[in-house]
Order: sequence, then C-alpha cells, then structure tokens
Amino acid sequence: MEKEHVTLTQPDGTTLELPILEGSVGPKTFDVTSVYKKTGMFTFDPGFMATASCRSAITFIDGEKGILRYRGYPIEQLAEQSSFLEVAYLLLYSELPSAEQLTEFEYIIGHHTMINESLQMFYRGFRYDAHPMATMVGVVGSLSAFYHDSLDIHDARHREISAHRLIAKMPTIAACSYKRHKGEPFIYPRNDLNYTANFMRMMFATPCEEFEPDPVAAKALDLLFILHADHEQNASTSTVRIAGSSGANPFACISAGIASLWGPAHGGANEAVLNMLDEIGDVSNVDKYIARAKDKSDPFRLMGFGHRVYKNNDPRATIIRKVCYDVLENMPTADSPLFELALKLEEIALKDEYFISHKLYPNVDFYSGIIYRALNIPMNMFTVMFAIARTAGWVAHWMEMIGDPDHRIARPRQLYLGAAERAYVPLDKRG
Ligand code: ACO
Repeated sequence: MEKEHVTLTQPDGTTLELPILEGSVGPKTFDVTSVYKKTGMFTFDPGFMATASCRSAITFIDGEKGILRYRGYPIEQLAEQSSFLEVAYLLLYSELPSAEQLTEFEYIIGHHTMINESLQMFYRGFRYDAHPMATMVGVVGSLSAFYHDSLDIHDARHREISAHRLIAKMPTIAACSYKRHKGEPFIYPRNDLNYTANFMRMMFATPCEEFEPDPVAAKALDLLFILHADHEQNASTSTVRIAGSSGANPFACISAGIASLWGPAHGGANEAVLNMLDEIGDVSNVDKYIARAKDKSDPFRLMGFGHRVYKNNDPRATIIRKVCYDVLENMPTADSPLFELALKLEEIALKDEYFISHKLYPNVDFYSGIIYRALNIPMNMFTVMFAIARTAGWVAHWMEMIGDPDHRIARPRQLYLGAAERAYVPLDKRG
C-alpha cells in the first residue's frame, strides 16, 4: 500500500510530497525535514503552534478531550493509586515497577539525597533575600562541578546515575534554598522517611525542634508532585531537550529547565495566581478583574486560566480542585476564604462569553497555590515545588533523547527581517 503523504504545491506549480508519520495515538504528523533541501524555503512556526519537535513515548495529551497519560496510564488512575516515586520510575523506565523494583528504586533515591558538603557553601554566596528559584538555577547547574564521575552522556549507566542523583537531590536543594532564604540551618535528609515526608521535614524541622509531617499534607503534596511530573514538550522540557541536544551535561540541562519554568507564563503561574487572588481580595471585586482580563488594552490576564494545549479542561485542575476540598476539610491552617474566592472567580469566568469563546479554563496552577498555602509552603517556593516534581519528567525526556540514535542538535532557522547587506561606515563618517 502506498504511504500517505501531504502534497505541497509551490508558487511555480511544482509539487513536493511530504510523508505522513503516524504515532500510536494522537494527530498524524507530516514530515517537513526535506522541505528546505527540496524547495529552498523554511517552514515558519514560532511558538511551535503546529510543530512536533521530536518523537517521544513518555506522555500523551489530548487537549480537546482533556486527556493526560504517562506511558499510557491515565493521570486520574495514577493520582488515585500511585506515589510520586512510582510515577518517576514509570517515566524513566517506561513500565510500572514490580514491588521489588519499587523498593529498590526508593532505596536508591533515598540514598542519593545528601548533597556534597562543600555545595552547601554555595548558598552562603547568595544574598539572603534571593528568590529560591534563582538559587535553584545556580545550585543545580553547579552539580556538574561536583559529580564528575557520571558525566559521560554516552554511557547509559552514567545517564542513569545522573537521573537518580537529580531526582534524589532536588528536594534537598529546594529545602536548602528555603532555609537560606529564612536564615535557618540546613536540615539533613532522613532515609527512613518517604520522598515527600523527607522533603517536608527538611523544610520545616529545625535543630531545636523535630517536625512530623501531617499525613493529609504529605499525601496532598505527593499527589501534586504526581500531577506536575511531566507534560510532554512544554517550554521547560523543550528547553532541557534543546540544551541537551548539544551534548551538554544533565545537571546544566536541568538548570536550564528550571530557568524556563520560572517564567509566569509557565511554572511561575502558581505564584502569580495567589498574588492575583490576594489582590482581588474579595468576591465583590471579581467582576472588575474579569473585565480587566477581557480588556485588550490592559496587560492583566487571569492567571491560572488558559493553556496552550488544553482547550476544554485541564484534567489536572479537576483533580486538584478535589484535593483542595480534602485539604480544607482536614487542615486547620487552610485558607477557606481564598478557596471560596477562587471558586467564585472560576464560576463567573466559566460563564463569561470571552472565556468560553477563547476556550479558557482553569489550568493545573489555578488551585495548586491554595494547597501549598494550606501546607505552609511560602509563595516564593511554589515554583520550586513544581521544579522538584518536573525533574522526573525532565530527566526522562533527556534520557529518551540521548538514547535515541537519530537525535541531532536542535538548531531552528529563522525568518530574517533585519538589514540586508550594507557597507561598514567608519566612525568619523557617521552622521
Ligand atoms: N486571561 C485573559 N485572556 C487570556 C488568557 C488569560 N489567562 N489566556 C489567554 N488569553 C487570551 C489572549 O489574550 C488571546 O486573546 P486574542 O486571541 O483575543 O488576542 C487568546 O486568549 C489566546 O492567548 P495566547 O496567549 O495566544 O495563547 P497561548 O496558547 O499562547 O498561551 C498561556 C497560553 C500562556 C497559558 C496563556 O493562556 C496565559 O498567559 N495564561 C495565564 C498564565 C498561566 O496560567 N500559565 C500557566 C500555564 S499551565 C503551566 O505552564 C503549568
């Protein structure tokens, strides 16, 4: 049977056949890699609105139907039944672990949580009021200066050790960033605690006082980590892939991913949502802010609304809304008025013609900040939480890319709009 193709007709009438590639599920994709060679023209797609940048078998999203699956498993089932480390294993190794494999993985991660003692000195070099994401970018990047023994990206075992180190050390680095900001001593990890409880203890214990994580809080945080663990070729993951495509080491690549995640259009949105809710302050002001979000001359956007891919519902937002109810019912520290304000804002926006016609729905970050606040996690740590979770996805994508024999350096082209050739004008001849 003849292979399906798309026919491209050029201005002079000549045609070019572009083969159609089929994935296991999802839209068909036509291959434009030969277009420049055969037509002398580039394809133009800033923001990758219609471009598949790679082959991947990790995460599937159907934005119209609100579907998110990791390695084929629906996010709803993983959120209900799995744990973050099991999900991290699934992302890295393609399959759910057996009980034995999970125990071994938990042991390995648990025994890589300490950071090199001299790495701690790094934190002292930062200003006391540095944003923890700024600290994260620097410290994670610096890991490549400490772990020389696993930097051969062409050695599969080295790649695996680096992946384990990154997943294991990220909570320690995150907690140190917080402690530095607070002016408190660092708390060392404890191997008898699970991943999430260990992180919470490193955040909230002090040498003078132990901290017992509330089981409701630890479960909610683990679930948030699951929901944020991966999201196919989003901005930060694509950043990790692009950085890694040149052969850069994984620590440098993940540091680049953290930098990208920090932006308010991406992972920084959870912090922006709480700032926005605090600014709105009261249900009586909601209409005013909805009007501002619709006004094209006003740069204000409803933070936590809209998504490049999800155009009907973000399945993670549905799960998080439910967790919000659980946390608010079971935790005395929870900020119910804030949640009520968020619910009201959502209700009004979802009925508004502008939001309906623009297909704008709450995204994963609309509710996550409310849960973080209930867990006493300060606002400037929200995006750091996201970074801890997304590290599992970033390393899975990095490993997939480096392990793919067809991978090449990512090198986009451009539509040049600058000056055409012109002659240099000596300084004394310039007007
Ligand atoms: N509030 C008001 N209007 C919005 C919003 C919003 N939150 N989001 C998009 N729009 C409007 C735009 O003004 C534009 O309108 P127009 O076509 O009339 O000019 C239209 O909807 C399309 O918006 P784009 O920015 O072109 O859509 P894009 O897919 O590029 O952006 C994004 C998606 C960045 C998420 C955007 O919806 C946004 O800025 N949302 C708020 C920030 C946010 O919550 N980010 C978190 C995303 S989830 C994550 O990264 C984990």
